[in-house]
Amino acid sequence: MRITTSFAETRQLCSGSVGLVPTMGFLHEGHLSLIEAARKQSDTVVMSLFVNPLQFDREDDLVRYPRDVERDVALAAATGADIVFAPEVEEMYPGEQLTRVIVKGLSDELEGPNRPGHFEGVATVVAKLFAGIRPDRSFFGRKDAQQLAIVRRMATDLSMPTDVIGVPIVREGDGLALSSRNIFLSADERSAALELSRGLMRAADAIEAGEREAKAITNDVYYELSDALEVEYVTLAGQDLVQPLTTLDRPAFLALAAWAGQTRLIDNVHLDAVEGGYVADRGTRLGETSVLYATGEN
Ligand code: PAJ
Repeated sequence: MRITTSFAETRQLCSGSVGLVPTMGFLHEGHLSLIEAARKQSDTVVMSLFVNPLQFDREDDLVRYPRDVERDVALAAATGADIVFAPEVEEMYPGEQLTRVIVKGLSDELEGPNRPGHFEGVATVVAKLFAGIRPDRSFFGRKDAQQLAIVRRMATDLSMPTDVIGVPIVREGDGLALSSRNIFLSADERSAALELSRGLMRAADAIEAGEREAKAITNDVYYELSDALEVEYVTLAGQDLVQPLTTLDRPAFLALAAWAGQTRLIDNVHLDAVEGGYVADRGTRLGETSVLYATGEN
C-alpha cells in the first residue's frame, strides 16, 4: 500500500478501474465497509484522507475533529486499499478556492439550515477529488444520506464520469450508527444515544407494516426521543431531492439529528421501493467492539 500527498502521484499509481473512498479519517468499520465495497468493484482502491476545512461551519468542530493518520493507514491497508491519498491543505487548496459547487435546493432542509456552507464545502472538495483522481466508481455511506444525494446529483448535473455508489450504514452491536464522534460520548450519553436507532427501527417496523403518513411516522419518533436527547429534527425526505414528504410515496429516508450532551449525532433509515411496498435498510451490525474504541497499537 502507498501513501501519497499529491493528485499527480496518486493518478500515476492508478491502473485499471479506479474506486475512490473519500474520508476525513479516524476510521471505523463504516469507512472500512466502503473500502471493502470498492475492493470488490475496482482494480485500484484509493482512499482519500483529508479533514476538509471548507465544510466545517464551526472552527471548534474542525479543531476538535479526531485525527490519527498512522492508525488510519494501518486499517486502510489491512482492509485492502492500494493507496491512501492524504494531501496537506496546501495541495488541496493551493490558493483561495474561488470556485464552489452548489447543488441548488438539496441542502435547504435537514442538515443544511443547521450547518451553513457545509454542503457547499463537501460538494466542492468531492468535485476536486473526482477531477484529480478520476475514479470510475466512488463510494459513500448511506449514513450521510443528504451528502450522498448531493454528491449523486452533482455528478449527474456536471457529467462527471463516476458511478456514485451508496453503502448501507454500519452499526455497533446495540444499534448505534458508527461515527468518529461517538468517542466523545460519556457512558450516559451513549446509552441515551441508543434511542436514535431504536426510534428509527420502530418507525421502520411501522412503515413495513403499511404506515405511509409522514406526520404519524415522525411525531412518534420525535416524542420518544425528546425525553433522552435534544432533538433537532426528525424528517421523512425523498432520496433524490431531499424534499420533506407528507406521504411516503417514493424512495425516501427517515432522518434525524440530535444532541447527546455536546455531541451532535445523525442517523437515518433508507426506505427503498420494492415490489409495490417499502423495505427499510436497517444497515449491518458489528458482532464485536468497534475499532473506534481500540486503544494502543492496531
Ligand atoms: P467522513 O465523515 O469521514 O465519512 C466518510 C464516508 O464514510 C462517508 O461516505 C460516510 O457516509 C461514510 N460513513 C461514515 N459512517 C458510516 C457508517 N456508520 N456506515 C457506513 N458509512 C459510513 O463524509 C465525509 O467524511 C466527508 O464529508 C467527505 C465525503 C470525505 C468530504 O470531505
